[in-house]
Amino acid sequence: MKEQLAQIRAAAEQAIVKADSVPELDTLRVRFFGKKGELTSVLKQMGGLSAEMRPVIGQLANETREYIESQIEIARARLEEIALTSRLAAEKIDVTIPGTPQPLGHKHPMSIVLDEALSIFVGMGYKVVEGPEVEYDYYNFEALNIPRDHPARDTQDTFYITDNVLLRTQTSSVQIRHMEKNKPPIKIVSPGRVFRSDEIDATHSPLFHQIEGLVVDKGVTMGDLKGTLEVFAKRLYGEQARARFRPHHFQFTEPSAEMDIMCFNCQGKGCRLCKNEGWIEVLGAGLVHPKVLEICGIDPDVYSGFAFGIGLERITMRRYGIKDIRLFYENDLRFLKQFQGVM
Ligand code: DAH
Repeated sequence: MKEQLAQIRAAAEQAIVKADSVPELDTLRVRFFGKKGELTSVLKQMGGLSAEMRPVIGQLANETREYIESQIEIARARLEEIALTSRLAAEKIDVTIPGTPQPLGHKHPMSIVLDEALSIFVGMGYKVVEGPEVEYDYYNFEALNIPRDHPARDTQDTFYITDNVLLRTQTSSVQIRHMEKNKPPIKIVSPGRVFRSDEIDATHSPLFHQIEGLVVDKGVTMGDLKGTLEVFAKRLYGEQARARFRPHHFQFTEPSAEMDIMCFNCQGKGCRLCKNEGWIEVLGAGLVHPKVLEICGIDPDVYSGFAFGIGLERITMRRYGIKDIRLFYENDLRFLKQFQGVM
């Protein structure tokens, strides 16, 4: 049996040196120490030994076992070290390799102008509020003094969800929603999408954007309205910008006006850009109709207010000399990229 143990030890030594992975070492452990392992079967034969020989062989078997185990542990440490070194080498990151450039996005021209317009109004003390795009007939028309079958609805045909629910044609609906829940002093702007069932062409789109404004307080006059919107025009377009007000009609304001900005291209002389008018219409406005205040539970004998609705596409086209509204929605990168770096 001594002989056998010596053979096992030699075989183990050889096999351990050859092993080149940690799982292989585990297999060896089974080969020698497992239930049917080589060393285990030697131990099983010990019952047949004489009483003197038993402790001698027993000790020898133990030494062999300890020796093989220690060799396996040494090999394991070595193999783990090698594995770690090669992993570190494989996963090494060369921080000096130039990176792959990621194209950086930028704002859409309308977002540029919207952000600027809002910050002008916020600078004048306005709060920004939002309203739903899918709206009740009541907020979009009825409460704005545009009853069913009134001809004023003809210019604002829209997309109906049901008889009473529609895609809003104007952000003016937010005026009503806000006045229902808030009492004067009120000073808000409300940007958002609006919809009309219009044919698309260079200046019309079934989806466009407005910025609504509403101020209600004691003693608000047309002078406040004109002053505010003139400041707005100069902040947006520069001190040289000229604005003019023309009388107009809206159902929910009295008196009503439209504001034009002098054409930057021809300085009011008339050119192709302004369709020979010299001026470009950018917003509708007026003093809030007493009926509208009343509907919202605000006493028109105590309070007055002004309101305005700015066409975001219009003021953006005017700002950058864009001649076709469709460019805003087509996502043509050749168009959009021209606004990279523009703030
Ligand atoms: N809602 C109007 C439109 O879409 C624009 C407008 C006019 C808004 C007068 C107002 C206003 O707030 O006072 O044509």
